[in-house]
Amino acid sequence: MIPNFIMKKLIINFSKFLFFLTITISVFNQVKSDEIYEKGKIIFLEKGNCAACHTLTDAGSEADIGPNLNQIKPDINRVIIAVTNGIGVMPAYQGELTTEEIETVGHYVSISAEN
Ligand code: HEC
Repeated sequence: MIPNFIMKKLIINFSKFLFFLTITISVFNQVKSDEIYEKGKIIFLEKGNCAACHTLTDAGSEADIGPNLNQIKPDINRVIIAVTNGIGVMPAYQGELTTEEIETVGHYVSISAEN
């Protein structure tokens, strides 16, 4: 039998451990998603050149060849599908951007379009 007072200590320490673990994970996730957001913005402006055709306030782009992304507020899947396969006069980026880059720009557009 473990004495009661040791058991209590163990439980308190374990709770503390869980508490700090949760904080560490959430801080880490925050940093990670901010990083993806920033990378997505760079792809939007540079490699993907999305800014040439789309208005997106966060990226500072004003173009009206394609729909205004602040107005259509696409979710991440809609961006990924459009960028991967192309749509209308918008070119397909498969081969141009990696799958990871397409997901990254999708993450960026879907979040920033809400602002
Ligand atoms: C050459 C101009 C051009 C470029 C470059 C371009 N787009 Fe588009 N995009 C368009 C046009 C035009 C449409 C509308 C197509 C249609 O509905 O016929 C469109 C549509 C979209 C849509 C909406 C798709 C839907 O389901 O209605 C999204 C999201 C999108 N583009 C994101 C992007 C992203 C992200 C990039 C950069 C990787 C990009 N576009 C680059 C012209 C462009």
